[in-house]
Amino acid sequence: MNSAPRPLVDRFGRVHTDLRVSLTDRCNLRCTYCMPAEGLAWLPGAELLGDDEVVRLVRIAVRRLGIRSVRLTGGEPLLRRGLPGLVRRIAALGPEVSLTTNGIGLARTAAELKSAGLHRVNVSLDTLRPERYAAITRRDRIADVFAGLAAARDAGLAPVKVNAVPVRGVNDDELVPLVEFAAEHGYRMRFIESMPLDAQGAWDRARMVTADEILAALGARWELLPTGRAAGEEGAGPAGSGRRGTPPAEEWRIAGTDTVVGVIASVTRPFCGGCDRVRLTADGQLRNCLFATEESDLRALLRDGDGGGDDEGDARIEAAWRAAIAGKGPGHAIGAAGFVRPARPMSAIGG
Ligand code: 5AD
Ligand code: SF4
Repeated sequence: MNSAPRPLVDRFGRVHTDLRVSLTDRCNLRCTYCMPAEGLAWLPGAELLGDDEVVRLVRIAVRRLGIRSVRLTGGEPLLRRGLPGLVRRIAALGPEVSLTTNGIGLARTAAELKSAGLHRVNVSLDTLRPERYAAITRRDRIADVFAGLAAARDAGLAPVKVNAVPVRGVNDDELVPLVEFAAEHGYRMRFIESMPLDAQGAWDRARMVTADEILAALGARWELLPTGRAAGEEGAGPAGSGRRGTPPAEEWRIAGTDTVVGVIASVTRPFCGGCDRVRLTADGQLRNCLFATEESDLRALLRDGDGGGDDEGDARIEAAWRAAIAGKGPGHAIGAAGFVRPARPMSAIGG
């Protein structure tokens, strides 16, 4: 298969170039906004895609469907055994490769991942206070995250982004300190509105800190300048603009500095109209949206016996993939009457 890929376009004209691959649904933290203290019933190992299967799907995505960036997620993707080898095989296919991690274990692996071809990392950190971190994640591991962040920066996994989900009454007094921390260490801070994707179904809109509130809190401390990747701009990075994909973060620069802060307003300012993402779960199910209620079973096609990596099997998977994107809806409408939560929690979908 040597011809140029045909773009993965849906019926709204959105071109999909970004693939998120969950490598495991397991996690070594138990963030309260994500999962219950006892964890979840993890997927059995036999249901997870193996490395060869992941690589085959990424190859189809890159060579046939025009995917240009691959983000590895979880659960916690650093828990995947042999991750550097898998990163090396994916990077060799040509896409930009990034990783979303809680940072535990990153200090040990950052340099190896960089040399395997990983480009960038996003590290989750909701607070700078050890006791509070332990309360939010139910694990006393903040020192590992600090070490992981520094190792990622030193390895050149740039820009190192720090993701925080502000929750009212939990960490909403740390917006300014988190930005100062990131600026001081050479990371880029991003705040994400909390979404109804926790396994317990305990999401409470009233506890979500909105983008407007985040900007008000930061704006009270600094003058914020839009960077041109700000609200209201139709798909801040349209295909052909030269930028890779549509960044959901609206970015602001602090006047007089080169500090940039991102805000991801998934709930109050959905960016569905510019969505260029498709997701693959750790058990090989394709999801056309974070909030999709239906999935396409690519694992079944991978394992149906006669699809052993041949061109015909690849063509069948490509067709199923295109059909899944053809069925993609216009947007998620969180909070609207009739919004249905997806059956899988965030940790089993991949962020
Ligand atoms: N809403 C918003 N963000 C979430 N994350 C996990 N659960 C939620 C949620 N319910 C974040 C993590 C991580 C990223 C993958 O998604 O904190 O930064
Ligand atoms: Fe793990 Fe991420 Fe869920 Fe926290 S939010 S428990 S780090 S999967």
